[in-house]
This record gives sequence, C-alpha cells and structure tokens, in this order.
Amino acid sequence: MSETVLLVGGGGREHAIARSVAASDDATLFACASNRNPGIASLAAGFEQLDENDPDAVVDYAEAVEATVAVVGPETPLAEGVSDALDDAGVYAFAPNSTEARIETDKSFQRQFLEQHDVPGNPAYEVFDDTDRACEFIDEYDGDLAVKPAGLTGGKGVRVIGDQCTAEEAKQYLRDSDYDRVVLEERLVGEEFTVQAFVANGDLRPSPAVQDHKRAYEGDEGPNTGGMGSYSDATPELPFMDADDYAAAVDIMRAVVDAMPDYKGVLYGQFMLTSEGPKIVEFNARFGDPEAMNTLPVLETDFVDLVTAARDGDPLPEPVFAEQATVCKYAVPEGYPTDPRSGTKVTIDEDSAGDALLFYASVDAREDGIYTTTSRSFAVVGVADTISEAEEIAEAALDAAGEEGLRSRHDIGKPDVVQSRIDHMAELRDE
Ligand code: AMP
Ligand code: GLY
Repeated sequence: MSETVLLVGGGGREHAIARSVAASDDATLFACASNRNPGIASLAAGFEQLDENDPDAVVDYAEAVEATVAVVGPETPLAEGVSDALDDAGVYAFAPNSTEARIETDKSFQRQFLEQHDVPGNPAYEVFDDTDRACEFIDEYDGDLAVKPAGLTGGKGVRVIGDQCTAEEAKQYLRDSDYDRVVLEERLVGEEFTVQAFVANGDLRPSPAVQDHKRAYEGDEGPNTGGMGSYSDATPELPFMDADDYAAAVDIMRAVVDAMPDYKGVLYGQFMLTSEGPKIVEFNARFGDPEAMNTLPVLETDFVDLVTAARDGDPLPEPVFAEQATVCKYAVPEGYPTDPRSGTKVTIDEDSAGDALLFYASVDAREDGIYTTTSRSFAVVGVADTISEAEEIAEAALDAAGEEGLRSRHDIGKPDVVQSRIDHMAELRDE
C-alpha cells in the first residue's frame, strides 16, 4: 500500500529523515515545521509552515493531507504532546508519547527510572529542587560533578565541573539561572558516543555508533552547542571502541526498552566510554542532530518499511547499513552560539556540494535566496570507505560554500583528532 508520511520538524536531522522517506519505494512525503526548510520542501509533495509544537495544528495538517503515518523529529513537539495527539487522531506517530519521552524531557525522571529498573551504567546522582541545597552538595561532594537542569535546554544547559567550569562557577551558574529542579551527577571521564535505535513493540534495532562534537570551537573548547558535527566508521563501533563496548551499549538500551515496553520511535543513547565500559550520559527520545545525518545516509533498508512495521505491529526489519564511514560538519553563523550574526546569504546548493550530501537546518528561504538565521545553518556529509576520505569530501564542500559569515569545526574527523581519541581511551584503560 502506498503510504503518506507526515514529517514534523525543519532542521538538518529532519532534512536527513525527509531524504530517507523520499528514497522509499512507495511513499509520499508531506512536512510541517516552524521554519521553512528549503531542502525538505523540495523533497515534499507539500510543506506547511506552522507551529510544530502545537498538537492541534499538526493534527489538522496530518488530516488535511490524509497522512497514514507520522515521524516527529525534534524533542519539543514530543514534550508538548504532538505524538499523543497524532495517535489519538488515528495517525500513527513513529515517536514516543509525552509520558515515555520524559526519558529525555525530564532528566530527574530519566535517572530515577534507570535506577528503579536496574539499568546498568547509570552514574551516581542526586536531584535538587532547592538551589541552596544543590550548592551545599557541590561543596560537600568529593570529586567532580555534572550539573544539569532537569528540563530541556537544547543541549546547552549542562555544566561539567573540572571540564568546563570550577565548582564556584557552577554554583554561580545555578544561582544566576534559578532552575526549578537540577540533577547533580558523578562526572564521567572517557570518550563519548551515541547509539540511535529504531524501537517498537519491544524490538530494538541499533544503528552504528557516532561521535558528536558539542563544544563550539576546535579542540573541544568553548560553550556547548546543539552539536557542531560528527563521524561514524564503516563498522558499528568507532575507532576508539571495540565490538564489546558497542554490544554493552546496546545491552543498556535493551534494558531501557524492556522497562518501557510501549516505547516507539527512535531511542538515542548517549554514552561515555569509561575505563569500566560504557556509562549513561543521557537518553533522548528521537534521532540526534547531527547524528541522524551520519546514520540515515548509510541506511540501506527502506526507512518507511521500518516505520510501517512499527505501526502494523510486525517485527521490525533488521536494518542494513552500508559499510561506509561518514563525516558531518555543520556550518553555523559567525558568533554562534553566544552572539550569532544572521542574514548571510547561503550560496552552496546540492550541485556545488560536490560529492558531499547537503542538509539545510535553520535557514530562512527568501525570494532572492537562502539566508542564515541565529542557529546552525546547514551541514555537509561525506560518505566514503574511511573516515579520512569522508572528512575530505565534507571539507571540499565547506570550501565550496565559502567562509563569509559562517564558521565550522574543521577538526572534526581529521586523522590526528580521531587518533587522539584512540590514544585517550588507551591511556584511560592503562591507568
Ligand atoms: P546532555 O545534555 O545530558 O547530553 O549533556 C551535554 C554534555 O555534557 C554531554 O554531551 C557531555 O559532554 C556532558 N555531560 C553530561 N553529563 C555528564 C556526566 N555525568 N559526566 C561528564 N560529562 C557529562
Ligand atoms: N547531538 C545531540 C543531540 O541531538 O541531542
């Protein structure tokens, strides 16, 4: 049967999802988002600019286009109940409902849930509703802590003592921000990686591991961002991991799905590979952005078949991934994330991106062209046999895009940086 797929969201991740839906044998894509993403619009039979966080607006559009299934990209619509509303209206959403999405949207729920269900790899943590008590705990704790607001902050709310700030600065941050609830947790030391899995009806189908780069500047300096770029290898694991580390991460995700049997959609596990194996940094209830742009381009299984199997209660197909490495680099506005300057004309297009894939993110499509906004602008992705070849393809596309008004992290995926991650893990394991 031919499917009509509604995609909710308009970032780089959603452009990658749109590309996978458009490549499906028998599906028509409609999309809606708060911003008009020109890449998604060019792949879709219809694109509606609406408030993607408003369940009624999304349901009205789903009904107008007679969607048979929906995919929700970002986390805020999940928190606002868009997935629940679609399901209630009879449009199966391949995304968790707002209760299950709390695994991402409420970090205190996340840690407590993992603890209650004995999910392995959960670091020591405490939850505080009172800033003074949290500050006292920082003073009393023997070691470094990660300080996390319990709610959604677009990846920008966490402060890690001993890495990004001192204990005094962390306390000042808490006093200045006045969050209702914060989680303080043991600082994990190691190399980070992400595993994204398709989940439905108790099945879990993982994708290759990806390493994101959250810090704004080269050498992992500067403030946290939504993610500046990422790489994956031709194997399920990354060069600093072995197959057992990857399997241990998947086992942790399996334990989450066993504890949440109704979970559907994508489960995103963020791990720290420590000297004792993978520990849980966090879970998200969706694909990662940028990480979706690494794994979806190498997904050879029909994406819509995965989604409809979920809807129909069929076993999820085992996804097949091309044995290729990927490197994704975002171009962001100059000054991002602290003082971004918008309004630069984006000159790159699919043709000038050469061998790289081009995914648009937060851009403004005007009559005379495409312009940057204050958020991440577009990403280029190289796909090749090795990480270094993929990196060169991505760099060539950034060259073609020009540097005017834009900035990227050129270090992502470079051989010396990848080697430094391998050396870091070897050092930790020797200690
Ligand atoms: P999150 O929003 O939870 O993904 O946190 C953002 C970033 O903060 C993560 O990608 C890590 O780099 C860092 N982080 C979060 N929790 C911890 C932790 N317990 N130990 C060390 N770093 C952490
Ligand atoms: N790349 C981090 C995230 O999507 O949360």
